[in-house]
Amino acid sequence: MSLIELRGMGREAIASLLDRAEAFLGDDGVFVPPDRARSLEGKAIALLFFEPSTRTRISFELAAKRLGATTVLMRAEGSSLQKGETVLDTCLNLEAMGIDAFIVRHRERDTPHVLAEHLSRPIINAGNGSGEHPSQGLLDALTLRRAIGDERGLLEGKTVAIIGDIVRSRVARSDVHAFTALGARVVLGGPPTMVPARGDDGWGEAEVVTSRREAVAEADAVVVLRIQRERMNNASVDTDAYVRDWNIDEGVVAEELPAHAKIMHPGPVIRGEELSSAVADGPRSLILEQVRCGVAMRQAILGALLEER
Ligand code: NCD
Repeated sequence: MSLIELRGMGREAIASLLDRAEAFLGDDGVFVPPDRARSLEGKAIALLFFEPSTRTRISFELAAKRLGATTVLMRAEGSSLQKGETVLDTCLNLEAMGIDAFIVRHRERDTPHVLAEHLSRPIINAGNGSGEHPSQGLLDALTLRRAIGDERGLLEGKTVAIIGDIVRSRVARSDVHAFTALGARVVLGGPPTMVPARGDDGWGEAEVVTSRREAVAEADAVVVLRIQRERMNNASVDTDAYVRDWNIDEGVVAEELPAHAKIMHPGPVIRGEELSSAVADGPRSLILEQVRCGVAMRQAILGALLEER
């Protein structure tokens, strides 16, 4: 079994992965119960990161090592990809060396699907261009459910706004599926060039608005996203207008957000562009809690895919 996208995954499958992650969260940090510390002993996990990454890579690496697995890291630079080898050939060779699972980040949307089709070991998609980022969607859902979920671990009756460069965001795509599966209403907000058109595929039931005030007015939580300039093919962005219309600072929080609304961001945060430091570091922010939940979530994912039953 692989983890490539959250689209099409039902409430039960998502909730059971989140439940599994809860077992790894103690009162003050990520926790590995002694009986799980060697649960992936003898497994070798390849981390293939062909696009930049800080949190996702280190979090998967830590998760694997805390469960006793060995990891190998590969980047495009310095590898045979630079001589023209395909990612699939590289992975077939790694599989021949005994790799048990592949965690892959690559700019092409179909890479994880192609790998899953040809390899017999699990593929975990760590970001496929502007496609999906399922472990991020799951860790965001875990963070949200711990912060504002009901006693059944659901988000029914809650509204989550995702604002920023939605169309180029794989995080937004995975978040929409995870949050809606738990029962939340999702509102997507951004400038017209950054939000999906009505009827675009992959956005489920999410509503789309192009004013910040409207996007956040009823939000129990706001997920703030970065402008993904690296996916814009040199199109320019009017940064001043973006900051004026979409940045979340203390004034916006006071005037436009409900008093209890939480703030989330997958990172990296570009301070002053989409989010002010005062809000990112303030009492409503769940940003570092997302990172903390991320390691537990990835331990749960690796366990679910690799532990011997
Ligand atoms: C994101 C990504 O790379 O998809 N970051 C992450 O994994 N936490 C979002 C981004 O780069 O803006």
